[in-house]
Amino acid sequence: MTKAKVLVARSIFPETIARLQAHFEVESNQADDNWSSAQLIEKLQGKQGVFTTGSERIDGALLAACPELKICANMAVGYNNFDLDAMTARGVLGTNAPDVLTETTADFGFALLMATARRIAESEHFLRAGKWKKWSYDMFSGSDIHGSTLGIIGMGRIGQGIARRGALGFGMKVIYHNRSRLDAALEAECKASYVGKEELLKTADHVVLVVPYTPASHHTIGAAELALMKPTATLVNIARGGIVDDAALAAALRERRIAAAGLDVFEGEPQVHPELLTVPNVVLTPHIASATVPTRRAMADLAVDNLIGFLVDGKPVTPLNPAVLAGR
Ligand code: GLV
Repeated sequence: MTKAKVLVARSIFPETIARLQAHFEVESNQADDNWSSAQLIEKLQGKQGVFTTGSERIDGALLAACPELKICANMAVGYNNFDLDAMTARGVLGTNAPDVLTETTADFGFALLMATARRIAESEHFLRAGKWKKWSYDMFSGSDIHGSTLGIIGMGRIGQGIARRGALGFGMKVIYHNRSRLDAALEAECKASYVGKEELLKTADHVVLVVPYTPASHHTIGAAELALMKPTATLVNIARGGIVDDAALAAALRERRIAAAGLDVFEGEPQVHPELLTVPNVVLTPHIASATVPTRRAMADLAVDNLIGFLVDGKPVTPLNPAVLAGR
């Protein structure tokens, strides 16, 4: 039987390539070159599968130019790089990498919250710059985590993980807002209460964003929402760039209309709004919330499982548009 052909669009673990090579003819981008969409289309010619990392755009134009493509396996839980409707219309399966990154990403959300509220990055920069000449009682006073109110927007698996950490580990009062309310048992387990978005923004001491990016969630936090927040509040975005209006946030931070922000994702990343690079009260990290070796390996393995599951066995593990399977 001839092997299906698979493209790996970005550099990845050698073990991941080896696993794929056991089943497929593999072309990979271990040099991690930045391919334009025209180059991606060229590389995809004759390929039935592609391993993507969340930054390669798969849309109707690309699919029309790559008629042999059957599956796009994202090594990410988010899949806003996929035009899923266009994929479904062309009978192309999309898969993502949920669950395996939940706890690691929740850990990071909490780390970023703590670094932001307790001004860890800002004070470290101060020390490294040789500015620490003497201790004073009000140096880098931040806001408390324990006993404060944590507002989570987006209460999927990662949001729930952050809620548990806040409620059980730090005695926080947890409120959340989500498209749909969790069932009572899950709310009780997370010790979280459902509130409207406006109430959450007005009452939370710390707001953490974990919503998927869709046209409907674009600028979930803009100038109007920032104006509702407490001047002492912190905002953390580990969801996606575009969930926050970064220009409006930079202005709010500069004018101290909120106390601080922690951002792992940015509009137009890897570009970062220039104003965010100059305000001191923001912690900036380069989209690393799921970055531990075991978790990144598990994410890569799940993408490979999906490629093998679909192209070899006809049974992908985490399909996003299962209608494609029904139509086969
Ligand atoms: C990372 O941002 C992911 O969606 O997995």
